[in-house]
Amino acid sequence: MKAFIINKYTKGGLELADVPTPVVGNNDVLIEVHSAGVNLLDSKLKTGEFKLILPYKLPMILGHDVAGVVTTVGKNVKKFKVGDAVYSRPEDYHVGTFAQFIAINEKDVAFKPVNISMDEAASIPLVALTAWQALMEHAQLKKGEKVFIQAGSGGVGTIAIQLAKHLGANIATTASKKSFELLKNLGADVLIDYTTQDFEHILKDYDVVVNSQDQKTLEKAFNVLKPGGQVISISGPPTPVFAKDMGLPWYIRMIITLLSFGTRSKAQKKNINFSFLFMRAEGNQLQEITKLIEAEVIKPVVDKVFAFEQTNDALKYVESGRAKGKVVIRVKN
Ligand SMILES: NC(=O)c1ccc[n+]([C@@H]2O[C@H](COP(=O)([O-])OP(=O)(O)OC[C@H]3O[C@@H](n4cnc5c(N)ncnc54)[C@H](OP(=O)(O)O)[C@@H]3O)[C@@H](O)[C@H]2O)c1
Repeated sequence: MKAFIINKYTKGGLELADVPTPVVGNNDVLIEVHSAGVNLLDSKLKTGEFKLILPYKLPMILGHDVAGVVTTVGKNVKKFKVGDAVYSRPEDYHVGTFAQFIAINEKDVAFKPVNISMDEAASIPLVALTAWQALMEHAQLKKGEKVFIQAGSGGVGTIAIQLAKHLGANIATTASKKSFELLKNLGADVLIDYTTQDFEHILKDYDVVVNSQDQKTLEKAFNVLKPGGQVISISGPPTPVFAKDMGLPWYIRMIITLLSFGTRSKAQKKNINFSFLFMRAEGNQLQEITKLIEAEVIKPVVDKVFAFEQTNDALKYVESGRAKGKVVIRVKN
């Protein structure tokens, strides 16, 4: 099959290669990839920025989001059959959706929402699971609470706003003005133009912040929270709890402890609960997200769809940081 791979860490492009079709394990489904979502994580793996946290063996096929059709099932698979339309964010070390086929453990797979296209479905798993795990698991966001979701026009932001609205929260977000209309329609209540305004001087007494920006922005966000409020950061710095959960070796745990020390101390002094979230694959949660999409509570926001041959252009567009919602690669026409 054809796949986009890296042989070594690189700032350049992925290589289109002929590779064997994946072996289907007993608990796996083999999916013919129709569409694949693109994430910044693909770039971070490509350049080696994440090699301490996710030490992949190279060569590897990149790609963390898929929508497609089941073509083979392993002998223990119970939930899916050949012909099912599915979508997934495969678990770490089993990724590789920039390819014609991928084998995924059925626990990471969910039925694709019936009311959206393959391209739209491929835009959902990683960012929707991130939003779900941030708002439902970490924050346990409740009706009437105030949440500040940074970068509302990004892949995570567009879904997190819709989920927070569904949970009954009051939502503030940052974006540039050209995205305001979109974000109002998704459910944002307070819109801040990050190019001309400083959220720190506008927001007050928030319950929850979802941080997706740099460490300086993260620490500024402490000032908009109530005492006892929560910051869930998806862009670092990683914490010792995360390093332990990932089973990282002691010396990397030491580095991570030091990297986040300043931020953790500042949070503690201000009585803020700071946590770092690194989303995980979870088919059951994705199945709940399917229900919300089918109920039209969550709508996919797809900025651009690229042809499979243009995978490197798709990655570059995501790296530009200007995407409105998600970028998708159409693998099967
Ligand atoms: N830890 C995890 O599990 C996890 C999961 C998913 C993502 N992430 C990370 O979270 C971050 C966001 O990911 P994403 O996929 O949502 O990003 P994205 O889709 O690439 O974000 C692009 C959007 O960000 C907006 N933006 C850029 N700079 C901004 C700023 N200073 N303030 C507010 N908005 C700004 C842009 O709007 P304009 O074009 O208007 O500037 C654009 O719409 C990335 O660092 C990603 O790696 C982490």
